Parts: sequence; structure tokens; C-alpha cells
Amino acid sequence: MTRGASRSEKIEVLFDADKIAGRTRALANEIAAAGFTDLLVVPILKGSFVFGADLLRALHGAGVTLEVDFIFLSSYRDKTSSSGQVRILRDIETQVQARDVLLVDDILESGRTLAFAKDLIAARGARRVAACVLLDKPGGRAVDLEADFRGFECPDVFVIGYGMDLANRYRELPYVGRIV
Ligand code: IMP
Ligand code: MG
Repeated sequence: MTRGASRSEKIEVLFDADKIAGRTRALANEIAAAGFTDLLVVPILKGSFVFGADLLRALHGAGVTLEVDFIFLSSYRDKTSSSGQVRILRDIETQVQARDVLLVDDILESGRTLAFAKDLIAARGARRVAACVLLDKPGGRAVDLEADFRGFECPDVFVIGYGMDLANRYRELPYVGRIV
């Protein structure tokens, strides 16, 4: 299915809202079964604010109690590919010493963003650091890292929507798609 996003662009839907919602509930059940204690969930901004919000509520539905904080990371990138350097634009305020932390990201590609976040939280003394991503592009990996929980394998194309952007556009789309 394609939908008009502006006068000149059409978007092919890759993962629609129902499919994302169903998979998010299943992920929440997987996370609930993983036995986290004193759990702090940390969505990585900006991209994961939509997935993070839905995952948090699904976790509540799965019986998980948790706290939330946010980290805002930026990887220097040109339009659609990452250059490698990650920096913190806004750090979490919560102490992570001796507690379980679940990082949440929209998409895992090179792995640099998540590797940076995992190393940072682990270095601060977290007991357990896990990662949940909505989408995984396994072909794009530059570092050896896998997510503990992942929603879908994503084709090796630039995707937008459901929090993900192209130059800060399209984040509001309720589905994940690509511009065709
Ligand atoms: P990584 O550091 O290369 O693993 O990239 C992860 C980050 O790059 C994600 O959090 C996204 O913000 C961004 N990213 C990677 N691929 C895409 C894409 O296809 N669309 C939008 N953002 C992407
Ligand atoms: Mg991101």
C-alpha cells in the first residue's frame, strides 16, 4: 500500500500500526519473562519516543513495574547514513548503580548508538544492561552487537515513521515505511 505524504512523495508501508502493536505486546511479554528487577527503561531520543511510549504501556499490561528516564544521543550523520561518532545531547538523571536497565531504540543498524549507550550505562555500575529495538537491519553492522529483544528484521532501506525521521520529517506517521 502506498500513501501520499506530500504532493510529491509516496510512502510504501512496511510495518503497519496493527502489526507494530501486536509485536510490541509480544515483546513486552518477552521482557516480562526475562526477570528484570528494579527496572529502569531508557528510550534513546529522538527516534524511539513513539516506540518507547507504546512499549512502556505494553510493559504495564504485561505486569512489569518500572521507572523511566531518557537519554538523547546524536550520531553525526549525513542525510541517511551514520558517520560513526556518538555524543550525548541530554543524559539520564537517574542513578543506575546496581539496577537493571533496558535501553530502547527505534532501529539498530551499525550498532554504534546502542554500543555507546550500553557501555556508558555499564560503566556506571548497572547490574544488567539489555536492549530492545523495534527494527534490526543486521546487514549494516559495524560493531559486534545484537539486541536482546527485537521487533522485526528490517530490509536494508532507509525507513521513516513511527518516530523515525528524514531530516526531522515523518516522525508522526503511525506506521513504518519508506519513500518510493
Ligand atoms: P546505528 O548507530 O547505526 O545502529 O543507528 C542507529 C540510529 O540511526 C537509530 O537510532 C536511528 O535514529 C538511525 N537510523 C538508522 N537507520 C535508520 C533509518 O532507516 N531510518 C531512520 N533512522 C535510522
Ligand atoms: Mg535514533
